[in-house]
Amino acid sequence: MTGSDARFAVLFVCLGNICRSPLAEGAFRERLRKAGLVDSVVHDSAGTGAWHVGEPPDRRAIATARARGVDISDLRARQVRRADFSEFDLILAMDRTNLSDLRTLAPRGGASRARVELFRSFDPELSGGTANSSDVPDPYTGEREDFELVFDMVDRTAKALIADIAGRRGGASDAASP
Ligand code: 4NP
Repeated sequence: MTGSDARFAVLFVCLGNICRSPLAEGAFRERLRKAGLVDSVVHDSAGTGAWHVGEPPDRRAIATARARGVDISDLRARQVRRADFSEFDLILAMDRTNLSDLRTLAPRGGASRARVELFRSFDPELSGGTANSSDVPDPYTGEREDFELVFDMVDRTAKALIADIAGRRGGASDAASP
């Protein structure tokens, strides 16, 4: 992320910034590339916690993404900072705890540029009701299958998010293709 410019800027946020948000950013980055939109949208990811600052993503996250043709090994964890609320247009929380922590951190009184939302509010497979949690489940203490499930979730949501951004900006996108 290169500071403030006119491009639409999206920040993906989870707890540790080594599993879910780097997977979301990686899937989003790859789909932007395929849609020819890399120069139009700025992206980054961050964690509400500071335990893993400076570290690459979890090796299971790197391996899962790599198996799907997405390289996230260059990403490094950082913590959310107050400046993010003025540098990003959209801050997307992976779960409801992240969302609540972000809302606590956000500047008061309209000083924020960013809209803060749940990432999965863009998930086309998230139907209403109680059967489906709107969280991206934390795979950190799970198995490789949990990372696969997270990848599927963040990838389809990244695709829908790009279509939404392209639509808002009046641009064409082939992000809707498989
Ligand atoms: P993430 O997963 O929020 O998806 O990156 C976690 C990674 C690390 C920890 C918790 C969740 N941790 O407690 O260290």
